[in-house]
Amino acid sequence: MAEQTNEGVRPARPHHKQTEDGRRMREVLTYTRRGSRFSPKQQAAWDAYADRWVIPEEAVDAADFSWERWFGRAAPLIVEIGGGVGEATAALAAARPEANVLALEVWRPGVAEGLGRAAEAGATNVRFCGVDAVWTLEHLIAPGAISELWTFFPDPWHKTRHHKRRLVNEEYAALIASRLAPGGLWRLATDWADYAERMVEVLDAEPRLEGGVVERWAERPVTKFERKGLAKDRTITDLTYRRV
Ligand SMILES: C[S@@+](CC[C@H](N)C(=O)[O-])C[C@H]1O[C@@H](n2cnc3c(N)ncnc32)[C@H](O)[C@@H]1O
Repeated sequence: MAEQTNEGVRPARPHHKQTEDGRRMREVLTYTRRGSRFSPKQQAAWDAYADRWVIPEEAVDAADFSWERWFGRAAPLIVEIGGGVGEATAALAAARPEANVLALEVWRPGVAEGLGRAAEAGATNVRFCGVDAVWTLEHLIAPGAISELWTFFPDPWHKTRHHKRRLVNEEYAALIASRLAPGGLWRLATDWADYAERMVEVLDAEPRLEGGVVERWAERPVTKFERKGLAKDRTITDLTYRRV
């Protein structure tokens, strides 16, 4: 029998793209790869829960990939991009048992820690996946499929030449707007004043979104990166936009 292949179903994932002469393709990504070493606690959480709650990266290559199969049910889809160690992920998912919460985080020790936090919070409705969120949204999530999306303290990428890596730029905002269902919310927070201003500029200019700066979302737990910002006396800005 011929080997099954999904070639042509969707393009190669980031880090798997090659030039015609077989070299690794240079890609503009919103993250850099960080260390993958687990602490003993992270390893214990990974061993206990990864089988149930982590969608392995290679699984998304299957031609018949289905989120609902990985969640074990059909339910409104909430996506978090870049949850870090999963503090907000676990608490917010536990507060929304009726939703499927997809946590896209490329940093494996963060995912491992998030697994432990989800278990502690009693959130059985979270699935973690380490594939680039931009690629995932583009190739694995249908237009209008997301009921809510969270990006808390995305990497600020300070240097002007790195601004194209920011998750909130025109291109990715258009992608995210297209994946939100009409009426769906994009909730954001940042501790960088200039990034907050830029977020408003970019999101105000996206015709499918309306919203702006809001009061701190009371439900949102203080996360590691929020604590870092607060320790440096930075102002935290929350934003919420609605897909029109
Ligand atoms: C500055 S940290 C913030 C973590 C967490 N939200 C918090 O508030 O502590 C940003 C996180 O986003 C993740 N990230 C950035 N771009 C991503 C992408 N395209 N797909 C998945 N995760 C991404 C990084 O690995 C990093 O853990």
